[in-house]
Amino acid sequence: MENDFILVLDLGGPEAVLMARKLRNQRYYTEILARSADAELLLRKSPRGILIAGGEGGALENFPRAALSLGIPVLALGGAARMLAQAEGAECEGTQLTDKVAQITFQPCDLFDSLGASDRFVQRIDAFRLPGGFKPIATTLDGLVPGFADFDRSLYALQFYPESNDPDGAVILSNFAERICGCTPFWSMENYIRREIDYIRDRVGNRKALLAVSGGVDSAACALLMGRAIGDRLTCVFVDNGLLREGEAEAVLTAYREELGIEPLRIDARDRFLGWLKGLSDPVEKRRAMYNVYLDVLTEVFEEQGAGIIAQGTIYSDLLNDGPSARGFDPDRLIEPLRMLFKDEVRDLGEQLGLPHSFIDRQSFPGPGLALRCCGEVTPEKLELLRRADAIFREEVAASGQDKRLAQYFAVLTDTPALTRSGHFGNALVLRAVTGQSADSFAPGRLPNDLMDRTAQRIGRELPDIGRVVYDITGSDSATVEWE
Ligand code: XMP
Repeated sequence: MENDFILVLDLGGPEAVLMARKLRNQRYYTEILARSADAELLLRKSPRGILIAGGEGGALENFPRAALSLGIPVLALGGAARMLAQAEGAECEGTQLTDKVAQITFQPCDLFDSLGASDRFVQRIDAFRLPGGFKPIATTLDGLVPGFADFDRSLYALQFYPESNDPDGAVILSNFAERICGCTPFWSMENYIRREIDYIRDRVGNRKALLAVSGGVDSAACALLMGRAIGDRLTCVFVDNGLLREGEAEAVLTAYREELGIEPLRIDARDRFLGWLKGLSDPVEKRRAMYNVYLDVLTEVFEEQGAGIIAQGTIYSDLLNDGPSARGFDPDRLIEPLRMLFKDEVRDLGEQLGLPHSFIDRQSFPGPGLALRCCGEVTPEKLELLRRADAIFREEVAASGQDKRLAQYFAVLTDTPALTRSGHFGNALVLRAVTGQSADSFAPGRLPNDLMDRTAQRIGRELPDIGRVVYDITGSDSATVEWE
């Protein structure tokens, strides 16, 4: 199985991750690299095929030309297909079609094996005068060319992406992986668990391992996997940073004890975190301070416990977003068993290891916790106000049954003064709810008005220091999930 994978080059936007996941869903192993990967790195990785995705509207100089001359098959999709054409010297004759459903006929070739024609949504098709060696492989009824290839060099370009739930699109990807690149569909969770347990035993040796758990699905799945591999040489630790939601620390510890049979060591670091946050109102400084205290606390516990290695539930998107160097601990003393898994795969891993649904379906909660949702300086008074308001919102959302369709819903305490009816200034509070699992493509939660009315009335009645309740309906086009 050596090098039996497709390398996905990410030109920016959500498409690269989506394509990598689609291939993994069909059991072909994928890894993702940024577009800046040079020929040397690509050759060192030595994948069986390269898929280039994303980069809609990006500059041609950002296209990874090095990938085209390594003798490794390439499939470029969407904007990357148009860039490939231009990088190969094709002349663009203008955009011919945007945002339409078009019937596309596939020419017989390995990429389209077992496909004839299909209707599909295309965002954009440009016309090109194709350079020597390239031939049209997909055409629309009115003669546009959304797909072209140079068979001798195994370079394929399609100006569209497989849509979600698109069986033909899935066949195109698996044809590329299997027929053109020679990959085998070996990737499965059972296989991953088996290989990873061997890897954990090998890396940990006879040392004791420490794992910080938070109540989230990543660290819980990691705890079960590590437990299977090294048994009671694993110690789980729960750092109470004082920035958790109302009742959360107790709820997490009870769930670990009663549902997983694990008793995490509870470290009360509330005063330490709040002490370091005192006087800080810049979001970057707040995050940095929290991260540094967290490292300090864990390092102390690590030494006190005589541990030899620290485990973290870092997942693949953390690595892609932060880079491998942002993990904070000495790499020789760090193990990240979930580092190659996407979030949906972590949930699958959890299921297979018997993690209860109360863990798997839990909404994500950021490591820096309420510090990101308490704008400006974090004080005990503001935190208490935020915690109560957040608890009221959560209770009302849960009572209405809306919680099941939301990815995250929470309150944010702003630093903006707002005049109350009784004549004093309180803070403006924001309610936010989002759907969708991806940070790049979430949508506003569209909560019913009567639910928002009830919540605002309760907050008004119970928390006189909230001067105004505001509903945030911003989506991923222009906003992040968190306010800070
Ligand atoms: P943003 O705000 O970047 O959030 O759109 C995307 C997702 O990541 C979570 N988030 C964090 N999680 N540490 C975390 O562990 C952080 O610093 C952090 N910032 C954001 C956020 O809740 C959402 O799920």
